Amino acid sequence: MRTVLITGAGIGIGRACAETFAALGDHVVLTDVLEEQGRETCAALRAAGGSAEFRKLDVTSTRDADAAVAAVEAARGPLDVIVANAGIAHRMPLATMTDELWHHTLDVDLTGMIRVVRAAAPRMRAAKRGAIVCISSVVGTAYGWNEHVPYTAAKAGVAGLVKGLAIELAADRIRVNGIAPGFIRTAQTLDPVNSVGQAGLDAVAPRIPLGRVGEPRDIADVVAFLVSDSARYLTGQTITVDGGLLVGL
Ligand SMILES: NC(=O)c1ccc[n+]([C@@H]2O[C@H](COP(=O)([O-])OP(=O)(O)OC[C@H]3O[C@@H](n4cnc5c(N)ncnc54)[C@H](O)[C@@H]3O)[C@@H](O)[C@H]2O)c1
Repeated sequence: MRTVLITGAGIGIGRACAETFAALGDHVVLTDVLEEQGRETCAALRAAGGSAEFRKLDVTSTRDADAAVAAVEAARGPLDVIVANAGIAHRMPLATMTDELWHHTLDVDLTGMIRVVRAAAPRMRAAKRGAIVCISSVVGTAYGWNEHVPYTAAKAGVAGLVKGLAIELAADRIRVNGIAPGFIRTAQTLDPVNSVGQAGLDAVAPRIPLGRVGEPRDIADVVAFLVSDSARYLTGQTITVDGGLLVGL
């Protein structure tokens, strides 16, 4: 049974990943800063017969990341899979962007991923196995997003992080890939202040070649593929999963 640690697993894409891995028969370590939602998702997985535990983990805390990984390793050995998913997308015009606000987005969306991977890497390297997926975005890999410069920069940074980690960990047979989702229906995109909201999703749907906004499961299934043996020769890539948005005219 693989041990799969997911950040931001209480809701949205992280929750869908937790459901997918639990259904595959893996042990899922759900982590989130949202304790109530994380525990509720964990309970739902267990009620459905899955193997799961919840640990509170704020990815801006190195101490939290180290402690969560150490506790899982003590009970179960090295992690097999990490899904670095936690992220925020705050609207932040240049005119009101302080250093603190800039750093906060980078701290969650980019540094937060390296904290978890860095904590887990030594035992994964010793085991000479494992797979990591980091969630980037088409914002950053392909698009800019008005009044979201820190988010755009962080998500572009995730694609670089994936390449760097893939090379450093390849010798120990650990693969690292990214996913750049397009428009996925979650609390993040449904927030009309910090993102596009329901009206924005309704407006963009007809422009998406596959004819609809994505659902969290559309991303989770690709995460599951990327960490599976079917993707054994694939590392260092950030795969766009957007219903054809980027290649459409
Ligand atoms: N929804 C989309 O269209 C879309 C598109 C591209 C990329 N993404 C990325 O996908 C990932 C998941 O986003 P989502 O759409 O499911 O959004 P969401 O808001 O539904 O979920 C985000 C999760 O991250 C968690 N989180 C936030 N700050 C945290 C912190 N400091 N420590 C730990 N967890 C924290 C939240 O609690 C939540 O569980 C994010 O990285 C996001 O940027 C989403």
